[in-house]
Amino acid sequence: MRLLKRDRDHGGLSCIVLGGTGAGKTTFMLSAVALPLLETREILFWRDSEFCQWTFLPLNRVKLLLSPFYEYEWIDKDTGETVNVDDYVRNSYCYTLEDFYEKAEPNVLNVVYTDYAGWFNFISSVLLMRRDVRWVSLFMDEVEKFVPANVEGNRWRMNLEFANALAEFRKNFISFYCAAQDYGDVDYRVTNKLNFKVYLRNARVPKAHSMVYPQVPRHLNMGEAVIEGMGEFTKHTFTKLQHQLNLLVRIKPLLAGNGLAESYAADAAMEELENEAGEASVNAGAS
Ligand SMILES: Nc1ncnc2c1ncn2[C@@H]1O[C@H](COP(=O)(O)OP(=O)(O)O)[C@@H](O)[C@H]1O
Ligand SMILES: [Mg+2]
Repeated sequence: MRLLKRDRDHGGLSCIVLGGTGAGKTTFMLSAVALPLLETREILFWRDSEFCQWTFLPLNRVKLLLSPFYEYEWIDKDTGETVNVDDYVRNSYCYTLEDFYEKAEPNVLNVVYTDYAGWFNFISSVLLMRRDVRWVSLFMDEVEKFVPANVEGNRWRMNLEFANALAEFRKNFISFYCAAQDYGDVDYRVTNKLNFKVYLRNARVPKAHSMVYPQVPRHLNMGEAVIEGMGEFTKHTFTKLQHQLNLLVRIKPLLAGNGLAESYAADAAMEELENEAGEASVNAGAS
């Protein structure tokens, strides 16, 4: 499959999976992309939400990377009871951003639970600064929540910073797989940088950015995808996965004002970026 090809000369690849709710976006990323990559030595990072999408994989193929600045309450969706996640899946607390990389392993999906600032800093100061040349894949489901279109002020700048980081992925051997309901829901500075688009059933084709006829996704069945990129498009099928656990997680910040624990509040995260930039220029001025 084209999204699994690895070529040192070309570097990492990037794609966005498109389709409405229930079209199979999460399943496509896990079943067609993550599962085959689990058989390689590549390091896979998955950004999860309270929905615990990792429960779609065999539990021995998952490792949770947790932040000590949060309290995680795992809840069985059927009974409403609290679950001890240690009984089901391996997990590690990561005390520094470097820990997220050091504690990640090949052959498992490394599920990262951190906030925007945590992700952004992990990408920019760890993944893009690595000394090794291992292949890394980053999965961001519901990416429209991470870098939404049509935002202003700090959020606008944060999206730009992320788009700039994304431009560095290819030569750092990082592949990026994300999913959204609609192309237009994601900041254009991010979508502009992606090499591939995957259309699932009834996905809207962004006409100005695609050579696929808009009616094509309407003729797809569940489990069929059209992959467009590098001047061609191909059809691919993917299979359904079974939930291994029926879980959700409630995540509460334990400490306010800590770098990693800075809630999902965008402004707080941006303030941090600005302080860092300020410090960097002060340091540069002093030397
Ligand atoms: N290839 C497939 N064949 C049949 N059912 C599928 C397939 N892929 C996904 N599904 C089912 O469709 C539903 C929605 O899938 P999901 O991946 O959660 O969609 P999305 O992330 O786009 O909302 C799930 O119940 C899933 O099991
Ligand atoms: Mg989904």
